[in-house]
Amino acid sequence: MRVIVKPCRGLAGTIQVPGDKSVSHRAGLLGALAAGPTEIRGFLESEDCLNTLGALGALGVEVTRKGPGEYRVEGAGLQGLQEPDDVLDCGNSGTTARLLLGILAGQPFWSVLTGDGSLRRRPMGRVTQPLAQMGATVVGRSDGGRLPLAIRGARPLKALSYRSPVPSAQVKSAILLAGLFADGEVSVEEPAPSRDHTERMLRGFGARVAAEGRSVTLASGGELRGHAIQVPGDISAAAFFLVAAALVPGSAVTIPGVGVNPTRTGLLDVLGEMGADVRVTDRREGEEPSGTLTAGTSRLRGTRVGGALIPRLIDELPVLAVAAAAAEGVTEVADAAELRVKESDRIATLAAELAKLGARVEERPDGFLIRGGARLRGAVVRSWGDHRMAMALIVAGLAAEGRTVVEDTQCIATSYPEFLATLNSLTSEPCAVVEP
Ligand code: S3P
Repeated sequence: MRVIVKPCRGLAGTIQVPGDKSVSHRAGLLGALAAGPTEIRGFLESEDCLNTLGALGALGVEVTRKGPGEYRVEGAGLQGLQEPDDVLDCGNSGTTARLLLGILAGQPFWSVLTGDGSLRRRPMGRVTQPLAQMGATVVGRSDGGRLPLAIRGARPLKALSYRSPVPSAQVKSAILLAGLFADGEVSVEEPAPSRDHTERMLRGFGARVAAEGRSVTLASGGELRGHAIQVPGDISAAAFFLVAAALVPGSAVTIPGVGVNPTRTGLLDVLGEMGADVRVTDRREGEEPSGTLTAGTSRLRGTRVGGALIPRLIDELPVLAVAAAAAEGVTEVADAAELRVKESDRIATLAAELAKLGARVEERPDGFLIRGGARLRGAVVRSWGDHRMAMALIVAGLAAEGRTVVEDTQCIATSYPEFLATLNSLTSEPCAVVEP
């Protein structure tokens, strides 16, 4: 699928973004392990999150769709999952694969997991190694480091105090989920704090979780209790509109009900530093805080991004690179080598594709340097099968002169099936259309 993008004359209006991807996965997974039903509202109905629900169905969990984004998960309890009779296909979803591995590490049966070409290239050893230390048996490609993988859990698992070499919420969450089946407490220390949705939601389900700085500990014992979950809007989806509004002249966009968990709001901080008119109003506290985001056309300047900020905006770096290309001055991103093991090698793919539009991008081992201010000119670019690359390139096309063609855009459905419709609702005539 190819999307044709033309520059537009202003993005204006109020839009809703779909439910947060990270929170949706966790709501399904923890709901499945709880005693009693969990009612979820605002669940993200994208391929990735539906793959999580599909895997839960294959493990014997009853999941009922009650309406758009509304699901009821009949919790099977900590002892209630059943051996799947076929391979669990996680599609493109790293969160599905890694968090499921954590749960399966505690199940007294075999499961086999696979995924699409991109997911089969991504590192799983970061999860399977600590899970093996806890007592799970994992066999598969690259010595248990790549999908397809077979895992047989043990019960109880052994307690673990783990120092993760990478700031990764997926690693942390896999270990915490395995910890539900351990005979003692598990703790994870990270080099920098990553998103804490699992910790928050575990507490909501009644688990005892203590967090301090870069460490989190789950106490052993106890049951999870099913409850109602409202998934906030996905700030990683909102990010594309915030940057688009900043870049396109004559824009003013409002997005209510977006999750503003501080472990996810790095982009708001950086856009603010770059001079963007981005605001959060109508803040609401809760298990996950939310607020209304607004953004308008702004003159942006370059900035430096690195250190503990990186995990707080890791998924937003593709669209931030687009903002940097349009800004005045230099933007440098460091400490972001994790970008190389996302749905694509985002350092390589950003450098290659933004250069085709006329941006000056220098690739670094752990990030990139962009000399902003070059005129962006429409070109044929491609996503490399990476949903966030596809959406970031569409935003770049809005700010470029002439026509941009973004190839290989069907991947957008992994996280945001309504992206184009929502974008086009902000303009008087459609600015990004699927090639007939
Ligand atoms: C996610 C964590 C991040 C992020 C991914 C979703 C999660 O990955 O990039 O899109 O839901 O836990 P890492 O944990 O690998 O950094």
